[in-house]
Parts: sequence; C-alpha cells; structure tokens
Amino acid sequence: MTRKRTVGRRDFLAAAGGALGLIASPRPGGAAAGGPAAGPRDPAGLRRLLEELEAVGPRFWSVPRQDGEFLHFLVKATRARNVLEIGTSHGYSAIWMGLALEETGGRLTTIEIDRTRHDLALKHVTEAGLSQRVALITGDAHAEVPKLPGPFDFVFLDADKDGQVDYFRALYPRKLAPGGLLAAHNAIRQAGAMRDYLELIRTHPDFDTVTVSATMDDGFCLSYRRRSP
Ligand SMILES: C[S@@+](CC[C@H](N)C(=O)[O-])C[C@H]1O[C@@H](n2cnc3c(N)ncnc32)[C@H](O)[C@@H]1O
Repeated sequence: MTRKRTVGRRDFLAAAGGALGLIASPRPGGAAAGGPAAGPRDPAGLRRLLEELEAVGPRFWSVPRQDGEFLHFLVKATRARNVLEIGTSHGYSAIWMGLALEETGGRLTTIEIDRTRHDLALKHVTEAGLSQRVALITGDAHAEVPKLPGPFDFVFLDADKDGQVDYFRALYPRKLAPGGLLAAHNAIRQAGAMRDYLELIRTHPDFDTVTVSATMDDGFCLSYRRRSP
C-alpha cells in the first residue's frame, strides 16, 4: 500500500516553480494586452528583494507574504487594469500587484503620506523592474484620491483604518467601475477601527461583500460593485 505524503505549502510552491507564476518570464516584446513594456526581470533578484522586504515587513506594516500573493491572485483573476492602492509603505504589496499587472497590461497608482516610505517604495519598485507599471504619489490620500480621474477596477485600502468611509465616498460611485472590487485589509484584527466602513459596505445595496483570510489570522473585506444596481 502506498502511503500518501502531505505536501507542505513551501514544497508545493517550490515544485510549482515559484509563487503564483511570479518567476515566469515576461512575454517576449513586453507586457500582455498592450500595456507599457515590462522592465528587466531577474527572478533571483526579485525573490531576494521580496525576502528582504518581508524581513523588515513588521517595521513597515506591510501585508504578510500570503496576503501579497492573494492580492496578486485577485488582480490577475479580475483582469484588473486600473488599480489604486491607498497606503504604499515601502512598496511590498505594490510589487505583488505590479507583477500581476504585467500580465493584465494594467497600471497601479499608489499613495503614501510619509516621504521616507514613499522614497523607499520608489527604490524598491524600480529594483523590481516595475517603474513603468507603478505610479507612486506622496501625499495625504484624503486629498489625493479626489484628484485622480479613475475609474478604478481594483482598489486596495491599506492606510488609516478610520478613514475608510471617507475613501469610499471619494471613490463611489464615479471612481469605482461597475464590476470593480474594493479590498480593505485588516478587516478582522482592526474591525473595531473600521466599524463604520464595514457596516456601510456590508449593507450597501450596490455591493456584495465577504470577509476572507489567507492567513487564518487577519484578512480582507472584499466588496464587489454589481454591474447593474
Ligand atoms: C499598513 S501600511 C501599508 C502597507 C503596504 N500596503 C504593504 O502591504 O506593503 C499603511 C501605510 O499607510 C500610510 N498612510 C496612513 N495614512 C495615510 C494617508 N492619509 N494617506 C496616505 N498614506 C497614509 C502610512 O504612512 C503607512 O505607510
């Protein structure tokens, strides 16, 4: 009788050749779907960069690796082309989403209030070969979001948790495309600080909302804007 061996996540990803196709080479001639050409991509360098950012992740409040992979998955699965991130920090989640946008041919705009973190993020995004994909804005997102044209088809909310309602009002309805997705991080651990937003979005007639966790620890509040009200 052959005994089944349980394959750990790490073994699985190693056997699969890297997380979620991260290591896949860009297509010849640049990006899919006619977006800007991909930057130079060195898989080993990229892996090293992500590991370095993960090592200092707690200091920069970046999402854990599983959540970075989940954002990457969501951007690809929804075929998002115009993505907004509120709360860049040192650029870790921006890199995961930027890599997904290489496949969809889209672009990420990300906003950070802290100049030092913004500068670090710019350096990291450039090192990842994603400077053509990712536009970094430094400033208060409460003032910056209203200036952006939109509409966005994917928005990652990961800055001040008690500011979510204000961001929602700046985005909806004009700047969030029908069929678009809002992803708010820390919807489990920081549910208290996000209470007003969670109540608003979970009861909103134009959205379907779920809370999911990739880590079994904290998670995302995901809200899908219905195509027809
Ligand atoms: C949780 S961290 C973002 C982590 C990042 N998304 C990642 O996973 O790599 C939140 C960031 O939002 C920034 N932030 C807080 N309030 C902000 C605001 N009003 N406008 C823009 N950024 C803000 C903080 O300075 C901080 O760097």
